[in-house]
Amino acid sequence: MNSTRPGHGRLHSRTIRIGDSAFPYVFGDDCAGEIADGLAQLNADLLIFVTDDRLRELYPEVPARLSGRTPHLVLTHPVGESMKTMTCLTSHLDTALRAGATRRSVVVSFGGGVPGNLAGLMASLLFRGARLVHIPTTTIAAMDSVLSLKQAINTPVGKNGLGTYYAPTAVYTDVRFFGTLPVRELRSGLCEMAKNCLAIRPDAIPGLRAVIAGGDLAAPAALHWLLEASITAKTEVTRDDTYERRRGLVLEYGHTAGHAIELCDHRARGAAGLSHGAAIAVGMLVAAHISHARGWLSDDAVSLHYELVTGLGVEPYLPRTVRPEDVLRVAADDNKRGYLDPDPDALPFVLLRAPGRPAMTEGLPLVPVSTAELRAALEVVARGSAETATANIHQRAGR
Ligand SMILES: NC(=O)c1ccc[n+]([C@@H]2O[C@H](COP(=O)([O-])OP(=O)(O)OC[C@H]3O[C@@H](n4cnc5c(N)ncnc54)[C@H](O)[C@@H]3O)[C@@H](O)[C@H]2O)c1
Repeated sequence: MNSTRPGHGRLHSRTIRIGDSAFPYVFGDDCAGEIADGLAQLNADLLIFVTDDRLRELYPEVPARLSGRTPHLVLTHPVGESMKTMTCLTSHLDTALRAGATRRSVVVSFGGGVPGNLAGLMASLLFRGARLVHIPTTTIAAMDSVLSLKQAINTPVGKNGLGTYYAPTAVYTDVRFFGTLPVRELRSGLCEMAKNCLAIRPDAIPGLRAVIAGGDLAAPAALHWLLEASITAKTEVTRDDTYERRRGLVLEYGHTAGHAIELCDHRARGAAGLSHGAAIAVGMLVAAHISHARGWLSDDAVSLHYELVTGLGVEPYLPRTVRPEDVLRVAADDNKRGYLDPDPDALPFVLLRAPGRPAMTEGLPLVPVSTAELRAALEVVARGSAETATANIHQRAGR
């Protein structure tokens, strides 16, 4: 679709299939006008925008602009995970119902993965299932969370403890919104993309290298390529695995160590800790070292991990604030426990035998990893920079 009207950019449209669900994913540059047209076609009686205070401040005009003549309501909250709580969920639902929401209303997430997850859960509960539209404004949301049906809030016990699977009616991404993203948030989603390349689509690695070499990760052409590649990689493993409990588990590559590193770093440094994507990137290095020590991943494959991680601007070692012992303690509670036969000294891990080729156990892309193996890999990553870690490998390989 081509247009010269302001706010009507060239659009790309893909159909996302996840299990029995299918929905359009439409993306482009400067395409708010097209998004407004898409929302108007839903013939809603109320558009319920779910956003956060930062987006509200940056883009105060957007909900009214996208709503046109359809009445709209804006539900906002201070940024961060405190939004993904039962308190915020019930308060937003109450406000929507008091404002006259009906079965014809549409919940519209406008923001990152946090408002996206909350809006998804709200839509699934409202009248036992209202229509949901995602307008993701972070790379994590656009390239990762909206390509999953998982919707969740946190509980005092842990992250994403209460949730459901729910499909949107449509997803619209205008890459222009990424223009205001802090660089750390921009890179965060791209690290998940690097994970997808290493674990699922090594054939996309030359494209990712070209994007990195281009030097401008926020350029519309680079973002379009990354969106296309993310959609292809993620749907390849979720098409027949709605609940991400079989082939889709490969999306957890880097997450067992990565989540634990993220949590430890946030305990130590608060909001200055690693972004989710950067922590996953370091988690992939840990997984790569475990595979290498088992004789599965080659030296070149480990070096490829370092090349992509550092190319995306992530420092390839554990932050000084994070000790291997702390990571081991947190990783022991990883949510993939229970997938494999219980072994008190082993954690289910996604490990690669080669890029794009996960090691399998009982038909799942998981293998048990002992605490000793994980500790050894964490110590290599804790010590190393890209050069020293690669030098270590070469030394061990006798080169
Ligand atoms: N359902 C899934 O499968 C899935 C997958 C990945 C992540 N998630 C969830 O997503 C959340 C993380 O997502 P996130 O990183 O997008 O977090 P987020 O929504 O908190 O956004 C991160 C920060 O970026 C700001 N921001 C958003 N868009 C902006 C823009 N265009 N310009 C400037 N600032 C902007 C936000 O205000 C916030 O401060 C987590 O809660 C995670 O559990 C879910």
